[in-house]
Amino acid sequence: MLFSSHIKAALVLTAGAICLSPVYAVTTVIPSTSFSSYTTFESFWAYLYPWGSDHNGSARMVGNSTDHSHIGVESSTLTLIATPTTNAVPPTSTANPNPAIHYASGTIYAQSQITVTSTDSYTISGEFSAPTTFGTWPAFWLTAVNTWPPETDIGEWKGTANSWFNTFNTSSIVQSDIIDWPTDLSFHALKAVLTAESNDVDVKIDFYMDDVLQTTQYGQGFVGQPLWLIIDLQMEGSSGSPGPTGTTIYKVRNMLMTRTGS
Ligand SMILES: *[C@@H]1O[C@H](CO)[C@@H](O)[C@H](O)[C@H]1NC(C)=O
Ligand SMILES: *[C@@H]1O[C@H](CO)[C@@H](O)[C@H](O)[C@H]1NC(C)=O
Ligand SMILES: *[C@@H]1O[C@H](CO)[C@@H](O)[C@H](O)[C@H]1NC(C)=O
Repeated sequence: MLFSSHIKAALVLTAGAICLSPVYAVTTVIPSTSFSSYTTFESFWAYLYPWGSDHNGSARMVGNSTDHSHIGVESSTLTLIATPTTNAVPPTSTANPNPAIHYASGTIYAQSQITVTSTDSYTISGEFSAPTTFGTWPAFWLTAVNTWPPETDIGEWKGTANSWFNTFNTSSIVQSDIIDWPTDLSFHALKAVLTAESNDVDVKIDFYMDDVLQTTQYGQGFVGQPLWLIIDLQMEGSSGSPGPTGTTIYKVRNMLMTRTGS
């Protein structure tokens, strides 16, 4: 106790000594309590993708403030649920490359867009219980609001015991770093820290698993580009097919987004 109060005193003195440098304030953009109730959830998140229910996998997303069959919050945990579906209308995804719809599932996105600038960096973290079964394609990712890319994937599970960190400079120039991921559905933490490079053009992204730095990637021209944060449970697509015949569950908790700015 005595020791820790000495440390605190030392920190206060240090802070006093550097008070002429710019003061960087940390702002909570999404608090770790955002999944604590539907009211709180709906003040930080929106249902489905920013562009609608479909993307480039075989799941069509379903959910709104009265239908929580595929997107739910309980015990401060987000649960996305995919179930097989037949006779979807329309039968194929409305998004390129228009795969057949085989599942109803859940997706949410953050209402706040993320724009890294020379003065604003972002830290985005959460704990994930992610299915790794063949044909299941959950993700936690940032994608361009305007022209694509930018895209940075903080977690992407493609039906194997791995998660992928990806940063796209163009559709074909991509850095991917693949980490081992436990298949037992235990929760593990992922974190990305996005900071502008000194050229004020590119963004440096440090990726962590369970608080250990795994890799650093660089996004070309990402400074000043607004991004959406998406948590989705897609199916098939990049994770192979056919996917599971039963229910698939993806859970996220302690999701936190902070902005550090001057
Ligand atoms: C929510 O979605 C259901 C179908 O899943 C639909 O019947 C209902 O009208 C929707 N409600 C709102 C408020 O959009
Ligand atoms: C993307 O661009 C950044 C900035 O120029 C560069 O550092 C990085 O290596 C590029 N990524 C790939 C995969 O080439
Ligand atoms: C699907 O789209 C995402 C980005 O929008 C991209 O990262 C991914 O490579 C695409 N995959 C397939 C299989 O089309």
